[in-house]
Amino acid sequence: PLLQETFGLTELEERIRSHYGLKQVIVVPGDSDQSPHAKMELGRAGAGVLRKIAGKDPDVVIAVAGGSTMAHVANHLTSAVPLKGITFVPARGGLGESVELQANTVASTMAKKIGGQYRLLHVPDHLSEEAYQSLMLETGIVEIIQVIRSARIVVHGIGNAMVMARRRKVDQATIDSLMNDGALAEAFGYYFDRQGQVVHKMPTIGLRIEDIQQMETVIGVAGGKSKGEAIAAVLRFRHEDILVTDEAAALEIAEQM
Ligand code: G3H
Repeated sequence: PLLQETFGLTELEERIRSHYGLKQVIVVPGDSDQSPHAKMELGRAGAGVLRKIAGKDPDVVIAVAGGSTMAHVANHLTSAVPLKGITFVPARGGLGESVELQANTVASTMAKKIGGQYRLLHVPDHLSEEAYQSLMLETGIVEIIQVIRSARIVVHGIGNAMVMARRRKVDQATIDSLMNDGALAEAFGYYFDRQGQVVHKMPTIGLRIEDIQQMETVIGVAGGKSKGEAIAAVLRFRHEDILVTDEAAALEIAEQM
């Protein structure tokens, strides 16, 4: 155990919350890098927060990102009564990753878990300019994009920029330019530098950065010591409302304040 008493975690939550002006911070014990149990608890805590926020708005559209942390959140989501009016959609296109990690999969799992609806977006995470232009002429695509942009809640993971770029198999030229630009973190298809400035975006469709900036509730769920700096970078972007993290990441975040 890194910090024994509950008091320690509560204090850590409050320090991060007030420093970054967040509405809520939840810190679960342990280090998700080392312990599958800690990662599961992170998912459980994320699911609890999401369920609570979603329950306040019976017809809300919730945009979700992909990743293993979000998959854990989805698996822990429950509702005693079916929340039929809630619609889950992927935040952005992303068929580059393995199926279990794709936002489409996370969205459909979440919907099934709470008895809600879902809509999918079948587009790759790397679109050429031509493909982008012609997709935006497709009625079906335009319609789902409108649903995605009507989301009032977004829930997403946070990753290290290089880890995510490699996992998504981006080309070497892009890796080089990410490095040059000081990309440190990745969230919802956008790459951020240490100061929380967007330095690159995945060439796909869905939520844009201005949609995130206007979102009612942005929930980030990410943990593990190795992600501390990346999480801090996304917090410096200043559009997160709720952070669910673990002790090891929280200690790194606090060290950088
Ligand atoms: O954008 C961040 C990644 O999707 C996080 O993925 O939860 O598997 O580390 P992960």
